[in-house]
Amino acid sequence: MAFDRSIKIAPSILSADFADFGREIAAVEAEGADWVHVDVMDGHFVPQITFGPQTCKAIRPHIRTVMDVHLMIAPVDPHLKAFAEAGADILTAHVEAGPHLDRTLQAIRDFGCRAGVALNPSTPPEAIEFVLDRIDLVCVMTVNPGYGGQSFLSSQIEKIRRLRAMIGDRPIHIEIDGGVSPATAPLVAAAGADVLVAGSAVFKGGSVAAPGAYGDNIRSIRAAAESAQLAA
Ligand code: DX5
Ligand code: ZN
Repeated sequence: MAFDRSIKIAPSILSADFADFGREIAAVEAEGADWVHVDVMDGHFVPQITFGPQTCKAIRPHIRTVMDVHLMIAPVDPHLKAFAEAGADILTAHVEAGPHLDRTLQAIRDFGCRAGVALNPSTPPEAIEFVLDRIDLVCVMTVNPGYGGQSFLSSQIEKIRRLRAMIGDRPIHIEIDGGVSPATAPLVAAAGADVLVAGSAVFKGGSVAAPGAYGDNIRSIRAAAESAQLAA
């Protein structure tokens, strides 16, 4: 897939019906999702447990766009192969999840996935300065990971700006995860983000039986982000 910085909306299935992932994914894709964001939580690195590689493998055939897997697990290295084999297109590991980030990122690419790295709100942008050649995406957490529906942390906007400058012409996506809505999307797009994860803001008011709200929500977030990106 060719690299570009156009705005991409990545609904997080953390806010979907867990008993109906296949149809939820089909619904958000039909309503305009560019990627599907899959949140894996271990009850250790973050407080909640969601699901593991078997569930990822089961939902893979339902994803026609891009399977963007966000690993909130530690240690992460022992599980990379299983998530790669489950069919992830992008595998994102946290800077804070282990002592050997460079090795983790090499392993993700060796297993055939695009490599992402996520930064908790307290982690400075410099944490990834010396791994830029090993990544395809940096995910800026604009909430503390672990739950959907939290408030956006505006402290992260300056981090996005610094990362955008650090990345320069490199083909690295800047993804924002947490509290994205039509109100916050322009702030992150103007600062340099191109991939916007949104859970509650996409799924609110809709269902597989009434997916129109998903489309309305996706279009609102996209329109707000695109106009800010153009103006920046
Ligand atoms: C948070 C997850 C997010 C979450 C975002 O730990 O990584 O992907 O689903 O949810 P909202 O968009 O509701 O903040
Ligand atoms: Zn996420």
